[in-house]
Amino acid sequence: MEQLAGRVAVVTGGGDGIGRALSLTLAAEGMDLVIADVRLERASAVAEEARTLGRRALPVAVDVGDRASVEALADAAYAEFGAVQVLCNNAGVVGVSPLTAVEDANWRWLIQVNLWGVVYGLQTFLPRMLDAGQEGHVVNTASSAGLYPGGSGRQGAYVASKYAVVGMTEALAAELEGSPIGATVLCPTATRTDIFHNAFVGRPDTYGGPRPSRGTLADFEARGDVLPEMMDPMLLARRVVRAIRERRRYVVGDTSEVRANVRDRLQRILDDCDWNEE
Ligand SMILES: NC(=O)c1ccc[n+]([C@@H]2O[C@H](COP(=O)([O-])OP(=O)(O)OC[C@H]3O[C@@H](n4cnc5c(N)ncnc54)[C@H](O)[C@@H]3O)[C@@H](O)[C@H]2O)c1
Repeated sequence: MEQLAGRVAVVTGGGDGIGRALSLTLAAEGMDLVIADVRLERASAVAEEARTLGRRALPVAVDVGDRASVEALADAAYAEFGAVQVLCNNAGVVGVSPLTAVEDANWRWLIQVNLWGVVYGLQTFLPRMLDAGQEGHVVNTASSAGLYPGGSGRQGAYVASKYAVVGMTEALAAELEGSPIGATVLCPTATRTDIFHNAFVGRPDTYGGPRPSRGTLADFEARGDVLPEMMDPMLLARRVVRAIRERRRYVVGDTSEVRANVRDRLQRILDDCDWNEE
């Protein structure tokens, strides 16, 4: 999809972190925006930032894990702009527990937001985008945890949700071959956002309620705690813009980390194909 200026993008989880970076970067490319987040006040703040870049921006409250809520988002987007060309299914949450300790409610929450959130986004927007017959693009945010599980990250449930998003997007890209709509899966490595804080304090009561956060990035910095190397979400967002233009299937974060770990994972699979059977 070559031309972004004057077109419309929907970004879920657009109120913070990577979604905010995607929203502002797409606005800088001349796109109008629907910024959707479960925290309306955050979506509104990012919409205000996008407007200072001269674009129209509609903030919408959405729970991506709720089909009716995503349908209402699509209705609001089409009512405001009449078309959507870029869909970023980006909202997501994390959990950190060994697999033996993940509560059922937490499993359900991670899958509902990280996987069903993408499914509902696709089911709700993609048929309308295809019917319009215009160039467009879908960006699904997974994670490097959707390409390899990492070491002792204790994120097995999160990994499961993100592998599903990678697989679904690969299948989608194949389905969309020959159509004017492309699909990209965004696989960030550790990125400078407050996802751990947001997902801990923001877990809904129906899934077990809020958990104590160890603090925001700003709290860590104020305490002088050393944070691991993390990517700038704006750099990822610029790569997403290129991926949309060049119809690339993957955007990854730290390229040397991803190269090494993907190679290692594939090598293990290939090694275990070798049975030396007579
Ligand atoms: N930050 C990282 O290191 C990292 C690494 C790999 C993948 N990711 C993925 O990137 C995406 C964005 O994460 P981030 O780091 O920007 O986190 P973030 O917490 O800064 O932003 C996520 C946004 O999604 C919103 N959200 C949460 N649940 C929602 C729901 N049910 N409906 C709608 N909005 C909801 C939050 O309010 C928040 O504003 C996620 O899918 C995450 O899994 C992040």
